[in-house]
Amino acid sequence: MPTALITGATAGIGAAFARRLAADGFSLVLVSRDETRLAEAAERLKQKYGVAVDVLPADLATDDGLERVEARLREGVDCLVNNAGFGHPGHFLEVPLEDEVRMLKVHCEAVLRFTLAALPGMRARGRGAVINVASVAAFFTRGTYSASKAWVVNFSESTAAEVGDPKIRIMALCPGFVRTEFHQRASMDVSGIPGFLWLQADAVVNEAMRDLALGRTVSIPDPRYKAIVAVGRLIPRGLTHRISAMIGRK
Ligand SMILES: NC(=O)c1ccc[n+]([C@@H]2O[C@H](COP(=O)([O-])OP(=O)(O)OC[C@H]3O[C@@H](n4cnc5c(N)ncnc54)[C@H](OP(=O)(O)O)[C@@H]3O)[C@@H](O)[C@H]2O)c1
Repeated sequence: MPTALITGATAGIGAAFARRLAADGFSLVLVSRDETRLAEAAERLKQKYGVAVDVLPADLATDDGLERVEARLREGVDCLVNNAGFGHPGHFLEVPLEDEVRMLKVHCEAVLRFTLAALPGMRARGRGAVINVASVAAFFTRGTYSASKAWVVNFSESTAAEVGDPKIRIMALCPGFVRTEFHQRASMDVSGIPGFLWLQADAVVNEAMRDLALGRTVSIPDPRYKAIVAVGRLIPRGLTHRISAMIGRK
């Protein structure tokens, strides 16, 4: 049975990946910090899909957490979903430095280290998949969050090109607004975001899995967001800065 390791698997997009990959017959390794939620999620998935589910509690903002997940990945997995992440409220200059560094550790260092830990086994077996959850924010400007997600997109495309093996898929997933715990956890006011812009996590994951099967290296689920990214590339950068700055302020 193939194995998938998913970070941030207890909520939102990560939980949707866990459901989808369990339904596809993968054994799972679930990673996040809250041990109670991990145990509950594992039990639900085992009951519903009849697959083996291990839990690996780890804080990806710590070296110890990163090392324990790397060790599990070196044992070999068929699919890695680097999904754990979070947002900050407020303007860049108001966010404490330690919170910005924590974000870079979870969004970038974890993605780098886990990809490097998983790839040798995938190359030895001649197959595998790495899905790095970025964001539509990668194509716009909004502080360290969008900068870190732009790194994830570029890193995923670069790594896919370097590996150069169509049987080892490496893809950045760039969702728009998805109904999860993300915005509430970050104390973001998203009341101004129109209803039609909200996506469902399961639909995002299904589209991501379709794009992965097609061999895409960047997946932007939903035609609305494909259009937003395309238009964003055409309009002046100064205007996109102003629009980005208005979204999700506390
Ligand atoms: N929701 C959106 O609108 C949206 C849009 C674009 C991209 N994204 C990206 O999608 C990914 C998932 O977000 P989501 O919306 O599903 O968020 P969510 O519902 O808040 O879930 C976040 C998950 O990450 C885990 N996590 C957070 N910090 C962690 C840490 N330091 N170590 C280990 N696990 C950690 C959480 O579990 P614990 O708290 O138990 O650790 C939880 O399982 C993120 O990378 C986010 O940037 C989200």
